[in-house]
Parts: sequence; C-alpha cells; structure tokens
Amino acid sequence: MKQVRKAIIPAAGLGTRFLPATKALAKEMLPIIDKPTIQFIVEEARQSGIEDIIVVDGKNKRSIEDHFDSNPELEENLRSKNKNEMLKLVEETTDINVYFIRQSHPRGLGDAVLTARAFVGNEPFVVMLGDDLNNIKGNGKPLTKELIDDYQETGASTLAVMRVPHEDTAKYGVIDPSEQVKPGLYNVLSFVEKPDPKDAPSDLAIIGRYVFTPEIFDILENTQPGKGNEVQLTDAINTLNHLQRVFAHEYKGERYDTGNKFGWLKTNIEYGLDHPQIKDQLREYLIELTKKL
Ligand code: UTP
Repeated sequence: MKQVRKAIIPAAGLGTRFLPATKALAKEMLPIIDKPTIQFIVEEARQSGIEDIIVVDGKNKRSIEDHFDSNPELEENLRSKNKNEMLKLVEETTDINVYFIRQSHPRGLGDAVLTARAFVGNEPFVVMLGDDLNNIKGNGKPLTKELIDDYQETGASTLAVMRVPHEDTAKYGVIDPSEQVKPGLYNVLSFVEKPDPKDAPSDLAIIGRYVFTPEIFDILENTQPGKGNEVQLTDAINTLNHLQRVFAHEYKGERYDTGNKFGWLKTNIEYGLDHPQIKDQLREYLIELTKKL
C-alpha cells in the first residue's frame, strides 16, 4: 500500500459569507484567538504524518503565503529582545513544507482539487478544507489520521461524514449509506450535493476531510459544472464510487465550521475557554454577561 504523504488545502473560495473582512484577506487567515485557521489545518496534517502540503489559493491570498514564509526582520527583532517564546511561535510556522498554486477562477472545490494534480501525481492524498476544524483542543487523534488509518486497511478513498440536524442537509454533501464494513465505516450507495431536507437520503453530511486515490483526477477532468455552476467534488466522488469502492467514515468528535460568522465566533469562544492566557478572564466575562441577557 502506498503511503499517504501529500495534502491539498483548497483555500481559493471567495468567502462571501465573511464580507467585508474577506475583501482583501483570505478567510483561512481569520484567527481563532491568536492563530490563523489554516495553521490549525497545517498542524493537523503534520500530526497525521503528512510531509508535503499544497495550498490552492486565489486572489487576495498573499497573506497565506507570507504566513508560512520566514520573516527574518521580525525574527531578528524578537531575538534581540529575548522574546524567545514569541520567536518560537513565529519559527514554528515554517516547520513543514508548504507549497502554493493559484486557482485562476473560483470554479468550485472540484476544480481547486484538480489544480493540484501535478503536485500529487499518482499517489493517494488527502484534501483538507481550510475553514473546517476538528479536535482543535489537541486531545485525541486528528480526523485526517483516522481517515489515513482506514485507507491503510482498505486501500480505498474515504471521506469524513458527521450527523447534522436534518434541516441542515442543504448546506452539505450528504451520503446515502448502505452497510457498515466495520463500526462507523460505511459503504455508500450515492453522494448528493446539498439536498433539500425532504430529499436528503440521510443526516450524514460530508465534512472537510477526504483521502483519495489518484483516479479522482481523471474524473474531475471530465466532471461538468453542477450546482451553483461549480465543479462539485461531490459529483466526482459519486462517479468514483461507481468505478471503485469509496467509504464514508463517521466522525464522532467536535467539529468547528469557521467559514461563517456564527461558527467562527463559537469556535473562538470555545477555544478561548481552553486558552491558557485568557481562559479564566473569558469564563468570568461570560458568566457576568449571561446575567445581563
Ligand atoms: P465554500 O463553499 O466555503 O465557499 O468552499 P467559499 O467561497 O470559500 O465561501 P462562501 O460560501 O463564499 O462564504 C469550500 C472550500 O472550498 C474552497 C474554499 O476556499 C473552501 O475551503 N474553494 C471553493 C476553492 O478553493 N475554490 C473554489 O472555487 C471554491
């Protein structure tokens, strides 16, 4: 079995739900307290054994490239002032190989993944969405590692799903599950992009982590734009499922969707309640605040 060594992080979306903040700034750079969202994703990749990451970026994404580049002037300044803890935080951002490629037009998630084809070549790889966090507090196995472990057993493409409230199915790709090959690992009959709740085949929604065999690329090449006139990754997965097995892995941990305002705010509060520098202050503040609500 080939090792899963490479990850694609698509981060070329327009982030319209976060305008005007995302007019000049990538939504993946919005911080959770003090760390850009995308840095959590890169750390998850590293903890899952990934060696090389490619970020698919678009216009206004220069800040992502700068974030993972060294900043000699800043580092020298911190060093001369003996701000060693801060220096360490800055240096850590360049600890992993991160490469960049530009998606010239935001033609959809499927198209973004296809843009990174030459980087991946003929190997299995993971896709990690840049605004979708799990296990942020660092306890337990990252979801990407769970998927890679499944791939090592089955050799099949596997994507993460999670139960969502039935009325929310129109926000996600949703699976029509058949039998479980082991607890929490489903064979899938079909994958449906953003179904209306009345048509949704289940409440198991695709969340932002996938392991793919390289055959997905040929399929993406031939996938016509679908919902929203975008090349939908879900449509390509559905086609792949007719050619080879694709499994869905049910994730039971915490997930944080930082791509919308309320999700981002909730993530900041939950992470803040765990953050060594501000947790006590934040807890006190929230208790006082709720008395006034
Ligand atoms: P979203 O559906 O969250 O779209 O994309 P978006 O454009 O980023 O945000 P909104 O809906 O306008 O607020 C899911 C993921 O796919 C990436 C996004 O960056 C995000 O990580 N994506 C989407 C691309 O890389 N390229 C695209 O053309 C579309």
